[in-house]
This record gives sequence, C-alpha cells and structure tokens, in this order.
Amino acid sequence: MKPTDKKKTYGLKGLSSVVSSIEVSAIKRVQNLASSSKGVVSLAQGTPSFFTPDYVKNAIKDAMDKNLTDKYTIGFGIEPLRVAIVNKLKKDNGIVTEKEQIIVTHGGIEGLMAVFMTLLNPDDEMIVLTPDYASHITQVKIALGGKSPTFVPLQETTKGWILDPELLEKAVTKKTKAILFCNPCNPTGKVFTKVELKEIVRIALKHNLYIISDEIYEYFLYDGREHFSTASFSEVADRTISVFGVSKSYSMTGWRIGYLVANKTLASQIFKIHDSLVTCPTAASQYGAIAAINGPKNEILRFKKEYEKRRQICMEELGKTDRLEFSAPEGAYYIFPKFKKPVDDFALALEMVEKAGVALVPGSAFGKGGENHVRITYCYAQDILREGLQRFVKYINKHL
Ligand SMILES: Cc1ncc(COP(=O)(O)O)c(C=O)c1O
Repeated sequence: MKPTDKKKTYGLKGLSSVVSSIEVSAIKRVQNLASSSKGVVSLAQGTPSFFTPDYVKNAIKDAMDKNLTDKYTIGFGIEPLRVAIVNKLKKDNGIVTEKEQIIVTHGGIEGLMAVFMTLLNPDDEMIVLTPDYASHITQVKIALGGKSPTFVPLQETTKGWILDPELLEKAVTKKTKAILFCNPCNPTGKVFTKVELKEIVRIALKHNLYIISDEIYEYFLYDGREHFSTASFSEVADRTISVFGVSKSYSMTGWRIGYLVANKTLASQIFKIHDSLVTCPTAASQYGAIAAINGPKNEILRFKKEYEKRRQICMEELGKTDRLEFSAPEGAYYIFPKFKKPVDDFALALEMVEKAGVALVPGSAFGKGGENHVRITYCYAQDILREGLQRFVKYINKHL
C-alpha cells in the first residue's frame, strides 16, 4: 500500500506541494479496500458498535421539533453547550475554565487541525509522542507546509509503553513549538501516568512549549487506572490546549461534535481558523451533545464494561499465536501487537484484506515505533471481533 497512484493532470497546473506530500490515511485506505471487497471483517476504524443513547437522540428530535436546528449557530457553539462543557471539565477533568475558552468543533479532528494551523509556521517543529493517532501526523504535516513532525517514540516494554523524558528533552530545539500526544493513546492503548505527565509539564515549562493533549478516550481506562488531564496542572493550564469530544464517549461518531479548551487569547485566534473551516458546528448535534454531557454516566460505564470484555477476547485470541508480542492495553479500545519477525506491515495489512478477509491498520501509519506492528480495534461487537481476530491469527500462523 504505497503512495496513491499519480492522478491524471488533465493538462492543468500542479496542486499544492503540501497536498502532494501527504497521503490518504492508512486507516481510510484499508477501510475503503475492505468495504469494496466482499465478506471482509473490518477491525480497522475506531467506530463504536453501540447506538447513540436514546436520551441524546430524543434531545435532538425535540430541538428539531422546536425549530432550533435550521440555522447557523454562533460559531463558538451555543451557550448552553459551552456552559455544560465548562461544568463537565471542572467536575470530570479538574480543569477550571470559562466559556470564552471553549470552541465546539466539527468532531475533535476539526479542532485539532484548527489548533495546528493556529500555532505552526513551516519553520517550526512539533514533537509528537509516538506511536500516535495517524491523523495527528498528517494534520501537523499540513500545518508545517509538508514537513514531518519530530517523532519521539515511547519505549515498548512487556508492561506497556513508557515515556523516556530524557529522549523527549533531547528532541527539543529552539524551533520546537509544542508537544502533542493522546491520552489514552490511539493506537497503543497507553495511559500516561501522573509522573509521566509531570515530566512533560516540566519540559514544556523549561523550554516554553505549548502542550496539545488529545483526550478523546478520557473515559475508557482499565484495571482501575485514573485519567489525569494535562490542563488540570495549574502551572501549564495556560499553555495547554486540550481536545475532547462526544464521538467515542457517547458513541456519537456520526454527529460530529468535539470541543477544545485553550487560554482566551489563543481560543480567539483558533476561532479564525475554525470559522474559516466550518462556520459553526452542526446545530442539531449540539443539542445532542448538551444532553450527552449533562446526562447520566451509565451509558459510558456500560460501553466501558463491554470494552473490557472485548479487550479480554483480544488477549485470548492473540494468545493463540506465538508470532506476536503484546501487552494488555491500558485504555482506549485498540490493541497494538508487534510481529516477532520483521515484516512489511503495510504490505501485510493489504495482503490480509484480500487473502485473510480481515482489515487491520499497519503500525507504520502511527509514526516512529509503530513499524512492525498492527492496530486492532476492539470497539466492534464480540462475534465480529472474534471472527476478525481468528482470521488474523490463522493467517499469520500459516504465513509468518
Ligand atoms: C486520538 C483521536 N483523536 C481524535 C479523533 C477524532 O475524533 P472525532 O473527530 O470523531 O471527535 C480520533 C478518532 O479516531 C482519535 O482516535
């Protein structure tokens, strides 16, 4: 699965060099291939199997019936939603904010792009702790005019992925603007400990860096782990930009609502990009997000319990081959096994769609340290998950 074929030019002038430097994400490419091939089980994209909770859908219907959803809304997001977010951030994340610091976005991904475009010049550097969400890498590349971010790989151990603060600090140069990571992490399932976060905080303060903390999986942590939001450390609250959303927490990926928190000055600058990209978030979805965020947490707990069972299925099925090494994911809903033998993970992922009937994402898509791994998403129904895992294990037992 190498770069997309050169497109016909129709004799017209060339495109932006930035666009030419990026590719459609490996996740989408594997997903597209899977959907155009019959009978493939896809464990590629992180779309939860659950329906959006009824109380959320009812709030959307109600807002529609009241004709509240037909027009553009204020670009920052409607007042009751921003108030709900401020209260939630205080209660669940220990982040003290005012509504002027919040921008409601078209999914977390739009907020992230707006942040990168606000902060970065092509001459800057951005540190990304890897393996990391593939879209972060592409987005940063776009904002850096086609230049790759600086990858700082976490150390893979039998107990999970660990931050090496020395390695992180060594990667900082005069041009470094920010440190970006997701916690809990897609694709590794890593949850950053308080000690690790404090090291990131220390380095950001020492070198005057922004911190961009993607916490889209904030509620899915296992084995009694606790989620710490970087912006809850008061010494870095002003320099941290946090990204959250309802896509994963409430199984609302189709409704496209995320939100970001930044200091007031920064938020007003990020808004310029947000406004240029989307004008405002979808009105109907904002009413759903109010109901979700203000509502009870029992649906989140139900999802989490089910993910725990699905994580167990992954451990069981992957345990049936000696071709892999992996540790139990600490959070999110991805497992990221490593092939013991060196493989071309891109070629293998492609081959498996066609020959094994299972779609998984090649580890190289997630930056340095991701090579020779594969990402398996376990937010799918148990029978689908087990079938996909069994196809994968059978294939690698035979071919690796
Ligand atoms: C780490 C991370 N951040 C952000 C997103 C974007 O989510 P959304 O745009 O649906 O809020 C995803 C989606 O997979 C993700 O895994």
